[in-house]
Formats: sequence, C-alpha cells, structure tokens
Amino acid sequence: MDKAEQRVKIAVQKSGRLTDHSLDLLQRCGIKFSKNKDRLFCYGENMPVDLLLVRDDDIPGLVSDDICDLGIVGLNVIEEKRLGWSRKMEPVRFEQIRTLDFGHCRLVIAMPDEADFSELSDLQGARIATSHVEVLRHFLECEIVDAEIVYFSGAVEIAPKLGKADFICDLVSTGATLAANQLREIHSVLESTATVIRTRARISAFKMEWIDKILQRLDGVLQVRESKYIMLHAPRSALAEITRLLPGSEAPTVMPLEGCDDKVAVHAVCRENVFWETLENLKSAGATSLLVLPVEKMLF
Ligand code: PRP
Ligand code: ZN
Repeated sequence: MDKAEQRVKIAVQKSGRLTDHSLDLLQRCGIKFSKNKDRLFCYGENMPVDLLLVRDDDIPGLVSDDICDLGIVGLNVIEEKRLGWSRKMEPVRFEQIRTLDFGHCRLVIAMPDEADFSELSDLQGARIATSHVEVLRHFLECEIVDAEIVYFSGAVEIAPKLGKADFICDLVSTGATLAANQLREIHSVLESTATVIRTRARISAFKMEWIDKILQRLDGVLQVRESKYIMLHAPRSALAEITRLLPGSEAPTVMPLEGCDDKVAVHAVCRENVFWETLENLKSAGATSLLVLPVEKMLF
C-alpha cells in the first residue's frame, strides 16, 4: 500500500524565511527525513509522507493542482495567487487550514526617506514597484487610487534608485532592508504569517488518516510552544487568588504537602507564556517555591 500515490506530499519552501521553521515543525510532528536542502525531494523514512522543496511562489499551484496534498507557505504568496487566479476566472483549488507561529512579515508601501508623503491619495499617478502585483492592485482598487504598478521579480527595493518607480511595495520583517536602502514605510497593505494549505482535490482515506495525524500533532506542537508547566506551594487561604493568577490554565492539580496543613502544592499547565511579572504577582499573593518548566509534548 506504499505506492507513490499513497504517500502524502507536503510542499515546503526550498530556501527562504520559512524553510528552517517549516522543516523543524515537520520534524517535531515526528516525520523523519534526510535533511538535504540541495534535493528537491525528501523521502519520509518512518511515515508515508514526502516533502517537496520548491520555490514558495510555486507552492499554491502545486497544492491547487493536486501534485501536493499540503503546503506551508506565506499568506502573502497565497493572496497573490488567489487574487490572480480569481481575476483570470481560474479556480482556486486549495484551502487554508492552519495559521502557524512563524514567518511573520508585512507587505508595505515604502518610499525614499527624503520624499514627501502625507496621505494615500499622494500615490495617485505614481509608479509603484512590486513583485506582489495582484495584492497591490487589489489594495489600490479598494482605496480608489489610480497608480502605475511596475513589476519587479526581485530586488524591488532598488527600483527608486534606478529611477524605475517612486514607491515600492515589498515585504518587511525586521525592516533592515528598507533601512539599508534609505526607504521608509508609509502604509501597511497585508500582514502575513506562514500558513498550511491543503488541496481541494479528493484525498484517499489512507492518506487522509495520515494527514489528520500530522495536523493533530502539529496542533500539539503549536500549543506546546507557548505552554509552560508551573509548580508552586501556596497557602490554602490564598489558593483562589493564586489559581486566578495562573495564565491560561483550566483546573490546576492541588496536592497536600506532607506535615504542612496550611499549605498545598499546585501544579498547572499554562497555555500562555509565563512572564516574570506573572511569577512576581504569584509570589506577592503568597506562592513560594515557584518552578516553571517547558512542556515537551501534548495530545488532546
Ligand atoms: C523580503 C523582501 C526584502 C526582505 C525584507 O524578501 O523582499 O528583501 O525580505 O526583510 P527585512 O525587513 O528583514 O530586511 P524575501 O527574503 O522574503 O524573498 P522573496 O520575497 O523573494 O521570497
Ligand atoms: Zn519568493
């Protein structure tokens, strides 16, 4: 039953901002594969799951055309394809099924530091360089601004220096690229995060079982990343207040402490980050012996 078409195929960015995080996430889901970024194809050694390492721009097409079952790709790429295909009346045969916790960036309009700009209507009649033609066109239509879109497949940030455009519309994550090119952001067009998409094509029951398993593990990994296990000692009299202060925990486990009637031990899984302030508040409420531990795995 392990024929090629019975193996789940997942498209992942070959090299870029999502690559390392995506491969790490899939490994945490228990998929073992030889990590060779020079190869297009990674064979899953312990599950009927293979990875295709491709350009991020190709991922929505591969999933839509049912060559891959799943893909991990930035929302910016998804929106660019979705809008482009819809405009050409071509079907969009994939759906977004998970938002991940990495690959955060924004698509913004920026301009040279020294240029003047006061409002969006200043874009009227201007030339804007971008590789996100569809997203930008859609944005301009919504804002009722008529500007000329100049397509750049890459290195968009040098367009103003080359005299090819007045503005650019490009991705920003740290802001280093804008700063290095003496550009400043004037408007945000789209917030993007790594996203899991799946094909709308029919998936066999055998493959679907594996996909469900992967998604369930993936949810566990995402949940665990922001979860902590807290242990502390609390005076019985302060138990209600201390329970209230535990971030994102449901029912904590309360246990007696040997030879100590007025105190109990409290253990809780907190489904939110535990900050120093939280610990300080717990201490002020009477908690002692506070211990915060990372959570390794979770399954619901
Ligand atoms: C984007 C963008 C900038 C850079 C911005 O390219 O085009 O060059 O990232 O990041 P920063 O704010 O941290 O400097 P990316 O590497 O995503 O390549 P791609 O658009 O070709 O996929
Ligand atoms: Zn790209």
